[in-house]
Amino acid sequence: MKHSRRDIVRLATGALTLLAGSGTTSTSAMAQSGLKNIAQTKGIEIGSAFNGWFHKPLLQLLIDNCDIITPENAMKATNISTDDGRNLMPGAMDDIADFCAQHRLKLHGHTLFWHQSLPEWLRTDDLNRLKQAHLRHLRFLLSRYPQATSWDVVNEVMSDRRRHYRALPVLDTHGDAFIAFLFETARRLVPTAKLVINDYNLACGSAFCEGKRERLLVALERLLRKGVPIDAVGIQGHLVPRWPIVPSSLQAFLQDIEDLNLEVFITELDVNDIDLPDEISARDRSVAQIYGDFLDAALESRAVKRVSFWGLTDKFHWIVEGYAPFSRTSSAPRPALFDQKLQPKRAYFAVHDALARAPNRTISRLPG
Ligand code: XIL
Repeated sequence: MKHSRRDIVRLATGALTLLAGSGTTSTSAMAQSGLKNIAQTKGIEIGSAFNGWFHKPLLQLLIDNCDIITPENAMKATNISTDDGRNLMPGAMDDIADFCAQHRLKLHGHTLFWHQSLPEWLRTDDLNRLKQAHLRHLRFLLSRYPQATSWDVVNEVMSDRRRHYRALPVLDTHGDAFIAFLFETARRLVPTAKLVINDYNLACGSAFCEGKRERLLVALERLLRKGVPIDAVGIQGHLVPRWPIVPSSLQAFLQDIEDLNLEVFITELDVNDIDLPDEISARDRSVAQIYGDFLDAALESRAVKRVSFWGLTDKFHWIVEGYAPFSRTSSAPRPALFDQKLQPKRAYFAVHDALARAPNRTISRLPG
């Protein structure tokens, strides 16, 4: 990671003594009122990814703006387990959970299954061994963090090209049965948590997004018919200027999800500024416009109950840190709502305004 030790105050578990209003963040009056306040009046939750960097101004930004936190990496299987699946070491995750509890932030579990985070012991395609390994994994996570109000049960299982699931032995051989097992186990262990199927390439107007949306809907109809307890679709929302959204097709998709009696969470919203001009004010204007247009389209649907960002600030952001599949190289990326100094950018105000324009929706129903 590229943060200096000076920047980061890693506080011990249970010893987080963040002083609200300590003067470390100087934001405008509007930014101080926070996104969560305007969103709350519409029945929408606001969230952000958080990687466990206990940098006081960042913590304050999360507290001011968010209802719910998604651990960016700490819950992923390869980060909490050893190869044999026995010595599970949650480490940073406990600190994040404590921070949430201390500041009454909800927790969104991310994620119980992700192809990019499969330790050796989760990599068998023998369904019974696979079930045993995942049962142990789910029991561990779900009993350690029972307070999580929702979980990405499966992340990125849909294929980008093929007819069905991603090309993984387990999904090729046992797709529906394995996914059903994960959802049913999660429902049994945490009956009141919302269970989410989360994926990317679901927002844009290009043919590859259109195709993936259609394939997801087919899979959802089939899984729901089989009684698989899915509550919500997670639309990641990693937006890229070269693949703009088309409001009508996004809205048709959201309507189809609502017709299946499912909710929608926007789970990982950000704007990759790779295609935009170097000049900062022009770039910030485009980024803001993309956030605003997306939210105007998405929030028309009352099925959308949550908007979570994949980081609030350019200072701690996977696109800036170079972990995203691509990012601009001619100048530092500026994908987030707040800049490197944690000051609100045009994007923040565009999101705030889109939330202010959004129609009201009812508070999310409980599963079951
Ligand atoms: C990313 C993190 O942001 C990076 O720090 C990490 O190196 C790789 O994973 N979709 C997801 C997230 O569901 O878990 C990914 O997070 C971003 C894409």
